Amino acid sequence: MQGGARRLWTGATLVTLAGDRDWGLVPDGALVVEGETLRWVGPAAALPEAFRQGVVEERDLGGALVTPGLIDCHTHLVYGGERSAEFELRLQGATYEEIARAGGGIRSTVAATRLAGEHALHVLAVQRARALMAEGLTTLEVKSGYGLSLAAEAKCLRVARKLGELGLTVRTTYLGAHALPPEFDGREGGQDDYVDAVCAWLPELKRQGLVDAVDAFCERIAFTPAQTRRVFEAARALGLPVKLHAEQLSDQGGAALAAEFGALSCDHLEYLSDAGVAAMARAGTVAVLLPGAFYFLRETKLPPIAALREAGVPIALATDHNPGSSPGLSLLLMLNMACTFFRMTPEEALRGLTVNAARALGLPDRGRLAAGQRADFCIWDAAHPRELAYWFGRNPLRQTVAGGRPRA
Ligand code: NIG
Ligand code: FE
Repeated sequence: MQGGARRLWTGATLVTLAGDRDWGLVPDGALVVEGETLRWVGPAAALPEAFRQGVVEERDLGGALVTPGLIDCHTHLVYGGERSAEFELRLQGATYEEIARAGGGIRSTVAATRLAGEHALHVLAVQRARALMAEGLTTLEVKSGYGLSLAAEAKCLRVARKLGELGLTVRTTYLGAHALPPEFDGREGGQDDYVDAVCAWLPELKRQGLVDAVDAFCERIAFTPAQTRRVFEAARALGLPVKLHAEQLSDQGGAALAAEFGALSCDHLEYLSDAGVAAMARAGTVAVLLPGAFYFLRETKLPPIAALREAGVPIALATDHNPGSSPGLSLLLMLNMACTFFRMTPEEALRGLTVNAARALGLPDRGRLAAGQRADFCIWDAAHPRELAYWFGRNPLRQTVAGGRPRA
């Protein structure tokens, strides 16, 4: 036996998502876990005798549903303050873009985040992460982008990394190119000077072990494609993968640019063009759709789901948790909204929070129930996996197992 104590889980209705389509349902299934890894997955009747040997613990799930652990592949979880006043302004007719141009929006969160101490930010981020974990989160991506100075970006990324202590896998993404900080505003070439600074800080942040990927906000109210390209070149020089906030409010050709750099994902995508879809398909870039932001900004333009499907672009989902465009903390609600708003099937939606979300993070070791995958899985009190997308405001999670360890 290799890799730690062997545990056997039986009586499971497995939702393996093992193939490219269908749920991969296995009634009366069994899982053999060794240390942090799934060693065997399949119908209990087919479990080889060799895998029964050396089992230190056996648990019968009595028919409960088991899915891969849920993955939130796009969040801005570390920030100070909140923006409910901005929500009221938007309800009175102001747009997200107008608020940003008037110096509110992201910039107001930057001010609050800079003022907050590292411990205070950690306490807030832990509360948010725990809310996501209550619905089965096992892997979490967190972006910086509310510090916008070397010291403040590092502070936020350290807070993000520390969330790993909760028994989660955390991936950190450097989003220095999120907005222009006030100290670069109102001067000639300020935007380009700031992009130079964003690129200059990257090697140091990487040296400190704080960066797994690099993201940018390519938009009229943020950075141009040319500026985004410079950020991507800095990432490439350090061997870091890229992602992009692309075509959220307008079509900037950002997705095609990101695809040129072999991006792991392009995210939002309401204004994605056919050319953008084709470029993403060629590059194997994942489309991360964010129903929470679509809903909360009262967007009416749908991302081009049918075109993405047809082109074979993998579709992931995420909360995009942030105080401006998506202050929500429910992965299950994202499943439901992906079906109601985007007309995704419940199976596509669950793939979006598991296997395709893993791909958006460059983590092929998770997202399915199969031998060799990381032992991250969720046990649900539900008869069929489509129920996970059906209920809203009701959480059928019984237990989560992360890295082979059942959570208390
Ligand atoms: O993903 N679009 C840019 N970034 C965030 C919103 C950030 C904010 O409003 O604070 C998003 O929607
Ligand atoms: Fe975002």
